[in-house]
Amino acid sequence: MSCCIIHYKYTTIFCNKITLVNTTNTMDSVISYFFNAILVAVIFTLVPITNANEETHYHEFNVQEQAVKRLCKSHTIITVNGQFPGPTLEVRNGDAVIVKVTNKARYNVTIHWHGLRQMQNPWADGPEMVTQCPIMPGNSYTYRFSIQDQEGTLWWHAHSRWLRATVYGALVIHPKLGASYPFPKPKVELPIVLGEWWNRDIISVLRQALFSGAAPNISDALTINGQPGDLIKCSQQGTIKYSVNSGDTVLLRVINAALNQQLFFTVANHKLTVVATDAVYTKPFTTTVIMVGPGQTTDVLLTADQKRGRYYMAARAYATARNAPFDNTTTTAILQYKYATSRPILPTLPAFNDTNTVTAFSNQIKSPGKTDVPLKIDENLFFAVGFGFFNCSPGPRCQGPNNTRFGASMNNVSFVLPTRTSLLQAYTNKIPNIYTLDFPPTPPVKFDYTGNVPRGLWQPVRGTKLYKLKFGANVQIVLQDTSIFSTEDHPVHLHGYHFYVVGQGFGNFKPSRDTSRFNLIDPPQRNTIDVPVGGWAAIRFVADNPGLWLMHCHIDTHLAWGFAMSFIVENGVGPSQTLLPPPADLPRC
Ligand code: C2O
Repeated sequence: MSCCIIHYKYTTIFCNKITLVNTTNTMDSVISYFFNAILVAVIFTLVPITNANEETHYHEFNVQEQAVKRLCKSHTIITVNGQFPGPTLEVRNGDAVIVKVTNKARYNVTIHWHGLRQMQNPWADGPEMVTQCPIMPGNSYTYRFSIQDQEGTLWWHAHSRWLRATVYGALVIHPKLGASYPFPKPKVELPIVLGEWWNRDIISVLRQALFSGAAPNISDALTINGQPGDLIKCSQQGTIKYSVNSGDTVLLRVINAALNQQLFFTVANHKLTVVATDAVYTKPFTTTVIMVGPGQTTDVLLTADQKRGRYYMAARAYATARNAPFDNTTTTAILQYKYATSRPILPTLPAFNDTNTVTAFSNQIKSPGKTDVPLKIDENLFFAVGFGFFNCSPGPRCQGPNNTRFGASMNNVSFVLPTRTSLLQAYTNKIPNIYTLDFPPTPPVKFDYTGNVPRGLWQPVRGTKLYKLKFGANVQIVLQDTSIFSTEDHPVHLHGYHFYVVGQGFGNFKPSRDTSRFNLIDPPQRNTIDVPVGGWAAIRFVADNPGLWLMHCHIDTHLAWGFAMSFIVENGVGPSQTLLPPPADLPRC
């Protein structure tokens, strides 16, 4: 491995840019600026630059408490290095990354590098009790991985209960040195990290919901780069502002880091040209609004071609579940042309339930050209996904609708995490009785998934059921939403993979009608697909990454209720198709 930290130079430049325009957290920014500056100085003197093409990036992530003030209240949150959002990692395709995570807070924690393929290396993937035991308070674990053939916008987040509410940051992968974007290089690049803010301690919000069986409290505000913005009480001081020159083209790397909410995002008076989703380039197309599901990223180009002025960028909920409360606030940041002082102009956003806009948007997302989507399918899977309810006898622990506790399931299985050891360790060390391999490839009972589902089918079974795939298998999964309790769009994320989205539709998937309409030419590739509300999405991938990989709804409420399953992908032939051995410092349970 080569050693070079040109990287910190970029980080510093980047932080610098943010410091100039971010009017809050001045102390934080100053501290982080000096921290970076010192780091650069130290590292440039200590580490000789040996190979400019492949770098190794060292980072220390201290998971620690930090008091921050939002919505008129001071509140202690869990952060990385006291920063909220956490530090942006900037790397190049081909680079290696080493992040030492030290837990200085009071909760168990793990970090997940969302969307990174982690070839043969689920040890660095992060989901708690799936690929590793958590890092307990006082302990540390070093994530070591490399970026292989990926570029664009990803992100990292805690993958331990609901800590990702505040423990997240952008992960930007630039093209290799000498390589370029498939579009003219933008003047400015800005990560736009969308989040959700609770006035309460997030772990207590989760605990309360898991105790009562009811739905958890909704968030108190939405945020852009940690700030609710001008429309929210006590937030004007902190509103994020980005300065641009007239005529500049800006790359906005929009990341939905919200815990539980799909979001619309738009910028007043400006067109957005979509160029990538989930760190895969797309055929460029122009729109005024995008929808980003939790876990997803969308890169858009914006040209500052309007009257010199100030324009709000804004995000608010796309919410489809019937009668379910959601955070209906609007978060804003300001895009300001240099020297403009006028009042910022507000954009109009689609209605909260505007599924037509979402469909029109997502239908335009395509790969730039002909792809190598698998045509012959070895594993034809059909997963019915959605809510479920556990009957209970009335009492404080039975606060779901009509004497139930809320649950969620995939093919009627409500996923339960193991407690003794992680699934990956149970798999590699052949520890019995941690999981079973009987996850059903199709729903155990077929029913009219999006019709009026009889109550008898509302209660799932709990289990830790996995599904085994042969190395190299061509896999198709149809994800079918159900109308148990309510239909809803679900952002389903597969770890360790990118998949092609070959089709989407409403109602029940009908193979005889829908298969022939699949896009097998230029389907987009993603790591998270927002399955249409009351509809289905069909995805395809080649099982070329051995290991154990979680698939789940990226709405953390649904994940906590059991909307998850896991694949084991067997080893292929030879060292390049075999799971790597575990690192020596892998945390113990
Ligand atoms: Cu971004 Cu399993 O998550």
